[in-house]
Parts: sequence; structure tokens; C-alpha cells
Amino acid sequence: MKIGIIGSGAMGNGIAQVATTAGHNVVVYDNNAQALERAKAVTEKNLNKLQDKGKIADAAAVLAQYNYVGTLTELKDCQLVIEAIVENIDIKKAVFKELESYVSEQCIIASNTSSLSITSLAAALQKPERFIGIHFFNPAPLMALVEVIPAIQTREGLADEIKSLMQAWKKVPVLAKDTPGFIVNRVARPFYGEAIKIMEEGLATKEDIDYALTKIGGFKMGPFTLTDYIGHDVNYVVTETVFRSFFYDPRYRPSFAQKRLLEAGWLGRKSGRGFYDYSQGEPQLQSQLSEAEQKQIVERILFMLINEAAEALYLNIASAEDLDLAMTKGVNYPKGLLAWCDELGADYVLAGMDTLYHTYHDDRYRASALLRKFGTEKKRFFAK
Ligand SMILES: NC(=O)c1ccc[n+]([C@@H]2O[C@H](COP(=O)([O-])OP(=O)(O)OC[C@H]3O[C@@H](n4cnc5c(N)ncnc54)[C@H](O)[C@@H]3O)[C@@H](O)[C@H]2O)c1
Repeated sequence: MKIGIIGSGAMGNGIAQVATTAGHNVVVYDNNAQALERAKAVTEKNLNKLQDKGKIADAAAVLAQYNYVGTLTELKDCQLVIEAIVENIDIKKAVFKELESYVSEQCIIASNTSSLSITSLAAALQKPERFIGIHFFNPAPLMALVEVIPAIQTREGLADEIKSLMQAWKKVPVLAKDTPGFIVNRVARPFYGEAIKIMEEGLATKEDIDYALTKIGGFKMGPFTLTDYIGHDVNYVVTETVFRSFFYDPRYRPSFAQKRLLEAGWLGRKSGRGFYDYSQGEPQLQSQLSEAEQKQIVERILFMLINEAAEALYLNIASAEDLDLAMTKGVNYPKGLLAWCDELGADYVLAGMDTLYHTYHDDRYRASALLRKFGTEKKRFFAK
């Protein structure tokens, strides 16, 4: 199968590498000649490194499977085209319309969009039943998770075909409904949002919170270190997009603390300053809080995350297995959230959510109907 990739930026180039190392010939198109040159150089460097480490046998042979092109027509004999260009719905739709006039009727067309509706993108096509979302994570060659998102127009069976293909590419595919943020970018919101809210309320410092989540929670990075790493231009914009897309549900309400960082141009690690100032080196994470206080911070954020996962299950966004796979493989959580709930007891998590709700009287803290049911009936998400 010949694969076409549109956009040779961070994601497109990464996805191309996944496809070539899986044995496909790949045509990479970008409308910016410099971006193509950069992508070529990055690929060569990456593949040579992989060869040195013994991870691939022959970098030159993999490189020979690439064809970098400057016109869209050259994707005409691809059987699958994955788009990874700028996150702009009108530009994406225009590219899909043009692409459809070149490719065969059987060609599958996919988008790697993080935040746009797959259904609205599919609507740009004459044959929307061939369209699907294939959402990789950054960096694509390293992150195992791929969210497969059928549009409401996608033909029966295509999602399963793409899942099999992703398995052949040594990825872990999960099936997600076409709703804002799909799985990971929706379920992970409280990790950032609730942490920032705790800081804004003055209950703990960013250092306290990062310390508690890594040392007690077992997360690889705390929320402030992680959002500085992701970049506030990316992370804040995702939060705001998800908030708007959910018709302003307070569960996803963005924070002023993060918005101000963005306005100041303090985008995180890449600009030398975000929540932390990197001019003095790495942030020193310490906490004067007692262990009980640290546990309270971890639990507040964890309850919100579990509640979000339970709500996603309740609304059939994904299966319980896929929800847990998504968070462990897509954002490296130490445990799946629903399995974590089973461990703590759904009644315990529900009591935590209800305490938050009674404290704030804010709909942000309403427990999911499914968590309430499981909590009341002391049920588990997975068999013991
Ligand atoms: N960066 C991430 O962490 C991440 C993760 C998952 C999904 N995504 C999604 O992947 C897509 C690409 O993101 P990225 O981070 O690789 O962006 P990027 O800016 O690194 O790359 C985008 C590339 O697309 C090219 N491009 C722009 N308009 C084009 C057009 N009309 N025709 C052809 N090429 C065009 C640009 O020249 C650029 O090389 C977006 O939809 C984004 O939401 C990003």
C-alpha cells in the first residue's frame, strides 16, 4: 500500500517515518519547499541514529522508500492519504477537495487533526464515506497510541481496517467517537485545569502540586512542568477549544493564570519561561506540605480525571479498555483511570466528587451519572 502524507511538519514527518519503517512507500507533500528540505534532513538524521542503535537494519533502504514532493497531484496513486497540515478547517477542507479530484475512488483519506470535527472535514468530500480521523501523538515514531475516529459518514468497516493497519505499524489503536478532544485531549483536561485552579485558589504552590503528583501520584511530570513542556500556546488553545466545543461546560473552563502566560509570550520551556523560569536551570520541586495535604491535592485532580473518564464511558466515547489504554499509552499515566477507580473504590471517588460539589456549588464538580451508579452500587469497571 502506497501512503501519502500531506504536511511535512512535526506530525506529518513523524507519521511518514512510522509508515516507511513499517515497509510502505510514502509520498510526502508540503506546500513549503523549506519545510520539505527540513523534513528530509530530520528524517535522514533520525534514521541514521536508529541504524546506529541497531533499531533498523538499513537507513538508506528506508530513505529510498520516501518521495518528497511539492505538488498535490503526485499523491494520485496513493491508497491512503493522511493529512497533517495547519489546524485550520477551511484550509484543510480546500486541500481535501483538491486531493479528491486526483486520487482513485477507493483511496482512503484521513486527518490527523487534534481538535476539528472529523464529520465536518468529511463533509468537504464528494465521497465522505472514505474519510476518517487517525490521530497520532507527538512524537509519532515514539508514542504508541493512535486514536481512530470515524465520522458519522464513514463507511462501516473502515475503522476496523485502519485499526488493523495501525497494529501492523506497531501502534496501539483505540476507537473514539467524533466528539471534542476525542479521548486523550478531553479526559486529560483536569490534569492541567484542576491543578491550575488549586494554585489560583492559593491552596498550594505550583511546586507543591508538581511535587505531589510526581512523588505521590506517580505521574512522570507534574501539570506545571508538563504544560511548560507542551507549550502554553498549544495547551491553552486546546483547553479553550474543548471548552467552546462543549458549549461552555464549566468542567473544561480555562484559567486566567495560563491565559496570562500566553499573553506575556511566556510559552514554557521553548521561550525560556512559562510557569517556571528556565534561565536558572530546571525547576526545583520541593514541598513543605504534609503527606496528608499532598494526598489531598493528588486525589482532587485524580477524582476529576476519573470522573471525566467515567463520563466518556457513559457517553460511549470509547470502551473502558480503550479509555484506559489511551491514557496509559497516549500520555503515559501510571495507571488507567478506570482501573485506578476500581482500586480506590467507585464509592470513595464519588464521595470525593460530592464533597467538591458541596464545597463549590459549581457544575464543574458534578459527578458523572455513571460514577454515581457505580459508586452507589459499589461496582467495578473491570472484573477482578
Ligand atoms: N504537534 C502536536 O503535538 C500534534 C499532535 C497530534 C496532532 N496534531 C495535528 O497535526 C497537524 C499538524 O501539526 P504539526 O504540529 O505537525 O504542525 P507543523 O506546523 O509542524 O506542520 C504543518 C506543516 O503543514 C504545512 N502546510 C501548511 N499548510 C499547507 C497546505 N495548505 N498544503 C500543504 N502543506 C501545508 C506547513 O508548511 C508545515 O510544514 C495539525 O492538524 C495538528 O492539530 C499535532
